[in-house]
Amino acid sequence: MTWIQSSLWSDIGKSFIFFLLGVGVASYFAFALLRWQKKFEHLKIKYTSKTTVSELHRNKQGKISDKWSSYLAYYDFLFSPIKGAPINLFEIGVQNGGSLEVWGQYFENAEAITGCDIDEKCAALKFDDRRINVLVGDANSQEIYDKVGELGPFDIIIDDGSHRSDDILQSFLLYFPLLKPSGIYIVEDTHAVYVPPSPGLKSKSSALAFFKELTDLVNFQFWQTEATISELVSPFLDGKPIPQILSDGWVESLEFRNSIVTIRKSATADNNKVGIRQVVGSIATVAPEVKGLA
Ligand SMILES: C[S@@+](CC[C@H](N)C(=O)[O-])C[C@H]1O[C@@H](n2cnc3c(N)ncnc32)[C@H](O)[C@@H]1O
Repeated sequence: MTWIQSSLWSDIGKSFIFFLLGVGVASYFAFALLRWQKKFEHLKIKYTSKTTVSELHRNKQGKISDKWSSYLAYYDFLFSPIKGAPINLFEIGVQNGGSLEVWGQYFENAEAITGCDIDEKCAALKFDDRRINVLVGDANSQEIYDKVGELGPFDIIIDDGSHRSDDILQSFLLYFPLLKPSGIYIVEDTHAVYVPPSPGLKSKSSALAFFKELTDLVNFQFWQTEATISELVSPFLDGKPIPQILSDGWVESLEFRNSIVTIRKSATADNNKVGIRQVVGSIATVAPEVKGLA
């Protein structure tokens, strides 16, 4: 072999080694890219347009979820600030199980989603989402309350159960205390109180009548009478003592919508919520008496 031939072979050898090195480096970056993509896959889900409650519900397949359209738009408004949070949710009323799946898809970082239904057929429901758990029994029974207590506290509680006033009231008194501070309690389908045999529009004992009384409770600080919180709510309590959750100022706000009532829990217990009067600025040509009121 001449020196020309041997240098040719060594050039080919070098090129082959460089080729192998090139393939190695390219594969390394390709694998790294794939792993990186996988790592951020959940972000892809987060930013698709289908992640509103409305979209998820509209495109729902499999188990049926049963909600009125105005609820969906409202839930998008209500839940969007906590959409990515590791929430704990409890829903009374599972039926076919679809709504629990929608919550699981919407709250992708939810820690747990628990449903409860009195219908024993719900025990057979199977969910791919391992965060979903169903308890079978009466939400207002001691047995279920004890089980739910072990799974709380909750960020969101939705009462989509029997829609009977006595059940709604009892569930609220049982489960509102299991909300975390600043948590949200939602009662769906409150229109049912207008439908016979429910008590109807002017009822003084319906669940809606009770929640209307709570609007006065929110403004307790400004009551100009000797009336007590107990007088306000005791007509609904069947002689039971007034729950501390109501007297201690945990009801932050109530929102009444067509067929939904939302009760928000305060961040802290306190009946004097209006805060400090803040009169700012220095010019008061129309009402100078506001100066110095701060
Ligand atoms: C309107 S459906 C629930 C629908 C479901 N949340 C959805 O959005 O698809 C009401 C369910 O509440 C259940 N229910 C009625 N009374 C109940 C109670 N006391 N405790 C638990 N579940 C109850 C019924 O069996 C029924 O399946």
